[in-house]
Amino acid sequence: MTTSSVPSLPLSGDVEIPQVGLGVFQVPDDGTQANVEQALELGYRHVDTAAGYYNEAGVGAALRASGLRREDVFVTTKLRNGDQGYEQALRAFEDSRRAHGVDQVDLYLIHWPVPSKDLYVETWRAFEKLLAEGAVRAIGVSNFLVEHLDRLVAETDVVPAVNQVEVHPTFQQAAVQRRCVELGVAVEAYSPLGRGADLDAPAVVAAAAELGVTPAQVVLRWAVQQGRIVIPKSLSAARQATNLDVFSFELSADQVAAIDALEAGVEGRTGADPATASFTQFRA
Ligand SMILES: NC(=O)c1ccc[n+]([C@@H]2O[C@H](COP(=O)([O-])OP(=O)(O)OC[C@H]3O[C@@H](n4cnc5c(N)ncnc54)[C@H](OP(=O)(O)O)[C@@H]3O)[C@@H](O)[C@H]2O)c1
Repeated sequence: MTTSSVPSLPLSGDVEIPQVGLGVFQVPDDGTQANVEQALELGYRHVDTAAGYYNEAGVGAALRASGLRREDVFVTTKLRNGDQGYEQALRAFEDSRRAHGVDQVDLYLIHWPVPSKDLYVETWRAFEKLLAEGAVRAIGVSNFLVEHLDRLVAETDVVPAVNQVEVHPTFQQAAVQRRCVELGVAVEAYSPLGRGADLDAPAVVAAAAELGVTPAQVVLRWAVQQGRIVIPKSLSAARQATNLDVFSFELSADQVAAIDALEAGVEGRTGADPATASFTQFRA
């Protein structure tokens, strides 16, 4: 697997994002450096972390140890829910930047809208400042539903480059995806494997057998073939490698339709509901 086999998608301005990245949610900080170094060696050039994952330092250490140039690896991090608000977001960004040991973050996301706090518009103003100053190359959101996207676009100046949302075969969020496309917001699928739960679905297993690939490759191919960015997490080098190798085969229209039909509505959701989630992401 060479890096060049993973295409990049355009975001805002001249910023491009590799379509497959490595997610590091629930990777312990003391194991993150090795996990990310392994991925970079396999050809990953995009890492997705968050202040709330408490492993930004491990990501930064891996970047430095890899010998790669800073501009060769796309790094996303996210603002903790408890750090929303204009001044607090600016301070939290500095903590994230320091933890990574980088001058510039490629993509900075509001992790959750937390509608009950009603701070995401004010927070976005801080993100716009960070973008204008060049501290970040692109700004985006995560877990934003249609009403949150619409409000942000109506009340602020910069359209989010990305909305990182839970999308996998049993939970596809068609309405959110549609609005993202209408607004020119790239859809980044988190938990793209359904945290492993979607890999046994008959339509996935059948396509994998027909194509001679793994169920995970089928599910990731289904996403990238429809234009989404994916950020699968794996601790295993073998699985990291196959998760990156999804550009040498194609699903037929029938295979795509069979996987589309796995949609299970909220039954398929693996994470929290953005309409009500309000946890701070601070460590106890
Ligand atoms: N913005 C948000 O609110 C949010 C929320 C959740 C996740 N995320 C991001 O999305 C990333 C990925 O999501 P996720 O970690 O929840 O779930 P995921 O990537 O859908 O699934 C990860 C699970 O699948 C297993 N797995 C990975 N590759 C596999 C393969 N090829 N075959 C079989 N099993 C495989 C992993 O086990 P092994 O590690 O043992 O391989 C792990 O148990 C996160 O790391 C994070 O960066 C963002």
